[in-house]
Amino acid sequence: MTNEKFSNIVVAIDGSSLSKKAADYALSLAKEHNAKLSAVAVVKFHQADAFRGSTSTLEKFIRKQAEIAQKWTEAVKTEAARTDVKFESKVIKTRTNVPEEIIKYAKDKRSDLIVLGTRGRTGFKKALLGSVASAVITHASCPVMVVR
Ligand SMILES: Nc1ncnc2c1ncn2[C@@H]1O[C@H](COP(=O)(O)OP(=O)(O)OP(=O)(O)O)[C@@H](O)[C@H]1O
Ligand SMILES: [Mg+2]
Repeated sequence: MTNEKFSNIVVAIDGSSLSKKAADYALSLAKEHNAKLSAVAVVKFHQADAFRGSTSTLEKFIRKQAEIAQKWTEAVKTEAARTDVKFESKVIKTRTNVPEEIIKYAKDKRSDLIVLGTRGRTGFKKALLGSVASAVITHASCPVMVVR
């Protein structure tokens, strides 16, 4: 039997209550394994958004979204500090692919576990598994824990 221990855990946060639950699991696993926790929130904006207003309107919109995402990661940071878990976080802006950015970030952090929720804030309630969760499970090169 192998005795796998996690060293670098990545949690993906989108502000949904399930991603907060995922963060709670990630925090307690990080604590138990004495692992480092890295939180990532990806802000996605569409090319089409650029045509709805001026460039500065789009920039303002993206900046605002990024600030909101930053607050989500800060909530985890506070909890990590309280429980003495090593922590870092990143807000990533992309026009293209959210799961790809999560996977890239996880590789960058040499992550041995990615934690996320089954669903998030953008999907329909009836979908059992969101598209980001599904793509990360499919394409990640490390184990993935999906919290429900
Ligand atoms: N933009 C994001 N940045 C970081 N993590 C995310 C992001 N979007 C989703 N996640 C993570 O993936 C989990 C599942 O969300 P997902 O987006 O797959 O479901 P959904 O929003 O219900 O459906 P969909 O986005 O496919 O319409 C979330 O709980 C969160 O952990
Ligand atoms: Mg979503």
